[in-house]
Amino acid sequence: MKNFIFKMPTRVHFGSGIVSNLSELVKEYGGTKVFIISDPVIASTPIMDAVKAGLGDIPYIVYSDTKPDPTIEMVDEGTAALKATDCDLVVSVGGGSPIDLAKGITILQTNEGSARDYMFGGSKTVTNKSVPHIAIPTTAGTGSEVTGATVITDVQNNIKLSITHDYVIPTVALVDPQLHLGMPTLITASTGLDALTHAIESYVSLNASPVSDAMGLQAIRLIGANLRTAVADGSNIEARSSMAVASTIASVAFMNGGLGVIHGIAQSMGGLHHTPHGIANGLLLPYAMHRNYIGNLKKFREIAIALGEDVSGLSEREGAYRAVEAVFDLQSDVRVPNTLPDVEVFEKDFGPIIEGTMAYRMLAINPVKLTDKDVRGILDHASAGR
Ligand SMILES: [Fe+2]
Repeated sequence: MKNFIFKMPTRVHFGSGIVSNLSELVKEYGGTKVFIISDPVIASTPIMDAVKAGLGDIPYIVYSDTKPDPTIEMVDEGTAALKATDCDLVVSVGGGSPIDLAKGITILQTNEGSARDYMFGGSKTVTNKSVPHIAIPTTAGTGSEVTGATVITDVQNNIKLSITHDYVIPTVALVDPQLHLGMPTLITASTGLDALTHAIESYVSLNASPVSDAMGLQAIRLIGANLRTAVADGSNIEARSSMAVASTIASVAFMNGGLGVIHGIAQSMGGLHHTPHGIANGLLLPYAMHRNYIGNLKKFREIAIALGEDVSGLSEREGAYRAVEAVFDLQSDVRVPNTLPDVEVFEKDFGPIIEGTMAYRMLAINPVKLTDKDVRGILDHASAGR
């Protein structure tokens, strides 16, 4: 067995309705005034009312004049806004974007300079710990509440990069599925498939360990058994709870096991075409699995079983391919965009997407070694459809 390290620095609090006790957590971490980072959509929903009510008599400032996909400029502006206050704890509320923005802002509060200096390839290294950060996810997908990367868009260069450091990891993840009951259908479906992508990419990654395997496989089981129900009936608290847990588990799995070509392409498409992260991953997942399954027949067969497929009587290859078919079926059932033209990405756009994908650092741990021709093959398949 290979040597491995497993880390999980975030303390996860899970429970239906636990946001009402937010003040206790804030006090436990010494917070006396809270800087809430969110977005305009969440700020106008009952979710924000529940967060404010949960703070009781603890004073707060809401910073929600933000946009999706944080940019370098947004992180720098948000840092200046936080520094202008006497807040001593950050609560982020939202999908991946507000949580990533909050990760960037907390880091820059205690590390001088611009977000640009600390991004992949930048001139500075994070050296100082930041203020406590309680992340409250409002989707079950990105898993940003437990990971050590913050995805930031470099608008000048049309690329998404990240600040990756252990000090970026939120202190606490407050996972409350009650807050997910009003999530729109397409967001439920696309973020759920993002979580499934985390689980599958980490499980078959060359960097997987027995611990990340255990978490990835359990996340696949939970998503396979619950995503359809969560999409069909958003008020089903059991399905919402299972998806919320699966998302958090899948993210711990990928923080340790890594990702692969799907996130490489999705990150590239996000920077160039602003395709939402979950939509891109949910679209690409089965096409990339079709390319990848020969890299680990045994594990892909396990994925098929975890998704509820009957593989008895099948050869190892046939059983493994059932995983690809099961994900195509799931993608079709939850009605997400399933070809590249559906998201306005065409053959003429492939050059820069392939270039960005080939530069993706975790392409090296994809289960099949891929050339730019192979990536083009995945894009061609995703253009034509199943
Ligand atoms: Fe993702």
